[in-house]
Amino acid sequence: MARFPSNFLWGGATSAAQLEGGRCEDGKGLSHLDYVYYRGPKIPCNFMLKKDFKKAKAEEATLNFPNRRGIDFYHHYKEDIALFGELGFKSFRMSISWTRLFPTGLEETPDPKGVQFYHDVFAELHKYNIEPLVTMIHYELPIIFVEKYDGWVSKEVIPHCFRYLKFIIDEYKNEVKYWLTFNEINMVTAVPWLGGGIILDRYDDFEVPKGFRPFGNLPADMAKRWDNAAHQALHHQFIASAMIVKYAHEHAPQCLIGNMFNLHHLYPETPSPADAYRAHEETEFNLFFCDVMAGGAYPAWIKTYYKRHNINIEWYEGYEEILKDGAVDFISLSYYLSSVVTADPARQERIGSFIRMLKNPYLPDSEFGWQVDPTALRISLNELRDRFHKPIFIVENGLGAFETPDEEGKIHDDYRVAYLRSHIEAIALAIEDGVDVMGYTPWGCIDLVSCSLVSMSKRYGFIYVDADDEGNGTYKRLKKDSFDWYKKVIATNGEDLT
Ligand code: BG6
Repeated sequence: MARFPSNFLWGGATSAAQLEGGRCEDGKGLSHLDYVYYRGPKIPCNFMLKKDFKKAKAEEATLNFPNRRGIDFYHHYKEDIALFGELGFKSFRMSISWTRLFPTGLEETPDPKGVQFYHDVFAELHKYNIEPLVTMIHYELPIIFVEKYDGWVSKEVIPHCFRYLKFIIDEYKNEVKYWLTFNEINMVTAVPWLGGGIILDRYDDFEVPKGFRPFGNLPADMAKRWDNAAHQALHHQFIASAMIVKYAHEHAPQCLIGNMFNLHHLYPETPSPADAYRAHEETEFNLFFCDVMAGGAYPAWIKTYYKRHNINIEWYEGYEEILKDGAVDFISLSYYLSSVVTADPARQERIGSFIRMLKNPYLPDSEFGWQVDPTALRISLNELRDRFHKPIFIVENGLGAFETPDEEGKIHDDYRVAYLRSHIEAIALAIEDGVDVMGYTPWGCIDLVSCSLVSMSKRYGFIYVDADDEGNGTYKRLKKDSFDWYKKVIATNGEDLT
């Protein structure tokens, strides 16, 4: 019997902010990730402090902003989509850039050039029988909402966002069947700048502690304020998401809408009940995002959690009804790694709602320290099936690595093939377990700008792009060894993984 259904959506995933480039062309406006400047090939840039933002504005002409260049898909999309066609993609995950349509985010009507660009991209995809899978918001917030508001903490963002969301559904509903609302919505509580455009020290004059690490040691009162702001922002994103799901169900019933969250599988460090409870608590927290978006309601326990952590949400008027009417059709997720947690407070650090992970002695690490664990994906897929009873789309997974072509211009990325093979095996087993998996779109199918490092050096693609962190290079596309391998996987519908 075939291991994957015949309509399984094999493909690849990208986002506008990291891929498109052409950031200031044809009237396009700038969004929050366009202000993140490069600091080095291994330095995370997921957090924004007031002083960094000031610097980004003041030195805009000279700083290096890799997201503004992406890989210039804006001018290369025909060539890139032809390569996806050659790979045999059934689906291509991309996002629409809010600021290409509504340059400041405040306009009442969209820019026609931006609107046409996405019609052209969708037409090109359909030429190769590739279904677009569109993320409505993939880490993008027009910059005015950072400067004049407080990112997604402000409920004023909702009507502007809804105008954009309503427009894209009305305009593209006959070209795009599969949609996701917010990319990795849970990241707003872990990385509030990235997910919500929230400047970390907006309310404090934050002295960066010695040895400050992004997922490290925030002063306690700041962590508390941050947690509050992040959960308020999350609430507003839940509302915007539910509003557009309801609208699409009424006006575009041919479309299917999913949520998107970062799946974080957790193991207790030991069999001690205390460690087991910590793992349970963190797992519940990870699944809470789906409880709201797929279940249509905040779970009872989260209000106790908010009380315990002194989180005071200003509830949006009528939110219970809005969430109930806006439950998604399917669940989608990104999955890269699993973590180990301990109940020992001395060995764990929490920032906002993110727990720092411990090393798992049974798992290998990627060269960026991400622990490779296909079995956790199988376990989680089974758990998601039992909890939500909805189809699941794995819309991100993959291995980031430093890569340069050899003298013959080849990239022998057998490590990527091994990573993907093991995860596809795990998905096949989950399907055998009875999980309804709709498709698989590995991240960064063509090299693009890394989200955490804002660099080109961390690469995920089947296709290499000749561009470096400074934007030097020919931007030529080269097939890596994994290209032919993935092409065969798709051609055999996942039967031949050799
Ligand atoms: C996911 C994001 O978190 O991980 C992507 O949705 C991101 O935007 C991907 O690029 C990989 O992360 P990174 O930091 O390696 O690019």
